[in-house]
Amino acid sequence: MATTDSTVPIIRIFDTTLRDGEQSPGASLNRAEKIEIARALEQLNVDVIEAGFPITSPDDFEAVQAIADAVTEPTVCGLARCMSKDIERAGQAVKNARRGRVHVFCATSEIHRTFKLKRAQDEIVKMSVDGVQQALQYVKDVEFSPEDASRTEPDYLAEVVQAVIAAGAKTVNIPDTVGYATPGHFGPLIKYLFEHVPNINDAVISVHCHNDLGLAVANSLAAVENGARQVECTINGIGERAGNAALEEVVMALRTRHDIFKAATKIRTERLFPTSRLVSTLTGIHVQRNKAIVGQNAFAHEAGIHQDGILKERTTYEIMKPADVGISKSELVLGKHSGRHALRERLTELGFTLTDEQMTAAFERFKVLADKKKEIFDEDLEAIVEGMIKDAADVWELVKLQTTAGTGVIPTATIELRDYKGDVHVDAATGDGPIDAAYSAIQRLVGVADAELKDYQIRAVTGGRDAQGEVTVTVQINGKTFKGRAFSTDIIEASARAYLNAINRSLFRCELDAGNKPEHV
Ligand code: KIV
Ligand code: ZN
Repeated sequence: MATTDSTVPIIRIFDTTLRDGEQSPGASLNRAEKIEIARALEQLNVDVIEAGFPITSPDDFEAVQAIADAVTEPTVCGLARCMSKDIERAGQAVKNARRGRVHVFCATSEIHRTFKLKRAQDEIVKMSVDGVQQALQYVKDVEFSPEDASRTEPDYLAEVVQAVIAAGAKTVNIPDTVGYATPGHFGPLIKYLFEHVPNINDAVISVHCHNDLGLAVANSLAAVENGARQVECTINGIGERAGNAALEEVVMALRTRHDIFKAATKIRTERLFPTSRLVSTLTGIHVQRNKAIVGQNAFAHEAGIHQDGILKERTTYEIMKPADVGISKSELVLGKHSGRHALRERLTELGFTLTDEQMTAAFERFKVLADKKKEIFDEDLEAIVEGMIKDAADVWELVKLQTTAGTGVIPTATIELRDYKGDVHVDAATGDGPIDAAYSAIQRLVGVADAELKDYQIRAVTGGRDAQGEVTVTVQINGKTFKGRAFSTDIIEASARAYLNAINRSLFRCELDAGNKPEHV
């Protein structure tokens, strides 16, 4: 754990993986996946989890509620515009949290005032103050963000910050919404606020930086040097467009360069790598190999001269210990003789906190896979658990798949599906190839007429001929786009499961959009 020397300030870590991170193109998480990530964030010891934007959909609302029930230590926060309906939804969503927070925001920059909100400066101040006051009717802990703060006139920004603090905001977050700031601009902006807002010490000053110029972490750190005491960030830096400041980078920079920042966090750094793996598995957003702290190459030394140095003295080429961020050099290879205990240990190291019931299901799947594959790698285990978490909300389950294909044969697929009531349905179809045939049979069985495959990708998650294939599909169903993903050692099966996964997501969404709690959940 990072140093918690009582003489240094503690920087609060506000994680927005489940809100801004989930806004990343291509990331979409179901409720069970969000809860799994929230539990991992609690293990990581983040101070605040921004769990969603409740007004955006009934699904988001219920996910925030479910996270408020699932975690006890971190504050659970819901986002709202300065609009009455938004604030009411956010307030209701975090009502049951042990520590609930409503985060209201209103754009303040001239560009946003003129083109988006079409409001004058004094109207924006009033909307912001009213928003904070309304949020205080639901929770004691209210955060306010002047959106696009880094492009707002500093004197006007100071006026807004002063007004919302006077209205009762306990945290004021300064976002670099479009990733426009640089450290030499953003640090002094925070300093300016400390010098020009008389009541600034009545609130915690926070920052929220986007990475459009690759400066999100540097800007966040410059803000800390100038008095910010909360940093908003996401695991693996996922988020809108180029993403947000990466939590693991902010935390490890503060820790490794304690000599400069003289500040600490409460993060259990050895949980960083497992949490990163979990988020990349569940969102499907892979971490680049050379990503700082959690990338596959972050602690790999290729050059002979470096390897030689490391063997003589680790610190010649390493500024952090792999174990400090949770990268273990575990040689434990799981296979068909491994027991439940070894599996649980490894899953915990990979960031999963499974209930006993989930563990039993994971162990069953592990045994099935171990019969097909000699060695089970971490990626295989992630695939198993991911499949399980997804299935939790499935309407349709693949029971059997049989295909015939080859030269001079008409590709045919016979599919058996079970619906959520337990009834089994069978159909067969032909197609351009076995996958196309399987997709036609599935489409007929589930009765979704308007489904168009927009994208299909396949990759091997591990090496070797018995590797599991990961198939990711994008399917347009009734005009909306859904992603589906599945793993199997059989790529036709993985393809069918991925397609079904996208259909299940669309059916889940349909029920929610119709205002129903899905019957099958
Ligand atoms: O980037 C941004 O400005 C935001 C706010 C809602 C804080 O995400
Ligand atoms: Zn943002």
